[in-house]
Amino acid sequence: MTQPDQRRIRKAVFPVAGLGTRFLPATKTVPKEMLPVIDKPLIQYAVDEAIEAGCDTLIFITNRYKHAVADYFDKAYELEQKLERAGKHEQLALVRNVLPEGVRAVFVTQTEALGLGHAVLCAKEVIGDEPFAVLLPDDLIWNRGPGALKQMADAAAASGCSSIAVQDVPPEKTASYGIVATGDFANRQGRITRIVEKPSPESAPSNLAVVGRYILSPRIFGILESTTPGAGGEIQLTDAIERLLGEECVDAYRFRGTRFDCGTHIGLIEATIRYALDHEKLSDAAAQMMQSALRELGVEEIS
Ligand code: UTP
Repeated sequence: MTQPDQRRIRKAVFPVAGLGTRFLPATKTVPKEMLPVIDKPLIQYAVDEAIEAGCDTLIFITNRYKHAVADYFDKAYELEQKLERAGKHEQLALVRNVLPEGVRAVFVTQTEALGLGHAVLCAKEVIGDEPFAVLLPDDLIWNRGPGALKQMADAAAASGCSSIAVQDVPPEKTASYGIVATGDFANRQGRITRIVEKPSPESAPSNLAVVGRYILSPRIFGILESTTPGAGGEIQLTDAIERLLGEECVDAYRFRGTRFDCGTHIGLIEATIRYALDHEKLSDAAAQMMQSALRELGVEEIS
């Protein structure tokens, strides 16, 4: 990652081959990434963020049951024809913009759910020898300005280093995240010196938690190939990043924006509320509805 013109990311990997067990029974047939916040599935928010950051090749790591993701990004000829005939141009544009012109989607099957690190490794042939992004669609990041990945891509293009999105979490939550130790922060970036998967609050090196946005050097593939299964019997991306630290620079990036963990029930509810309250057509009705629901259920205002 040293040639300035080769530093801009063009390819983004979306690992979507997980089982999504926390959303069963819905995820029995609907992949977690297809769950909507208002009118867009989670995967669309992540795709839009990657395109805004400059990516034109989107690599979806799927499993053989996740046809819905591929179908969603495929052209819907019949639907488009019907909308066109009905003069529904606004809706037609929405359907067509799922994947704008000039952006290509590539689907790679992960035959066994062997972990996030293994899912990323599945993209090796398509990525080749250039830096790339990884986005976990269930981490939804809301920001009025540039998206989190665009912020990171600009910083990484300037530094030539890999970059991992981080956010501060309460100390008692460290066991739910990858946690990093860093040098001092400047311009939202701090050089990572250590990364630990799900440490207890007592052993956590900080309360800076890894969030699902990464810009990685292609060096990670060679490392992943020789990474043995770690926590939970899975090939962990965190373990490979820890080894990458010994070979190349990796920065933590404190992005601007609010992240919702839509892999959990409460995170998806929170995201839906936030997007509804920020929606130009829905905000008033949503606020009224929430107030009356709280009143009806006798929920006291929490001070
Ligand atoms: P999660 O830890 O959220 O697992 O994976 P999950 O299976 O999706 O969800 P739960 O915990 O069972 O509810 C983090 C990300 O890594 C992907 C997932 O799709 C998700 O985006 N992943 C995980 C893979 O693509 N392959 C794997 O083998 C494991």
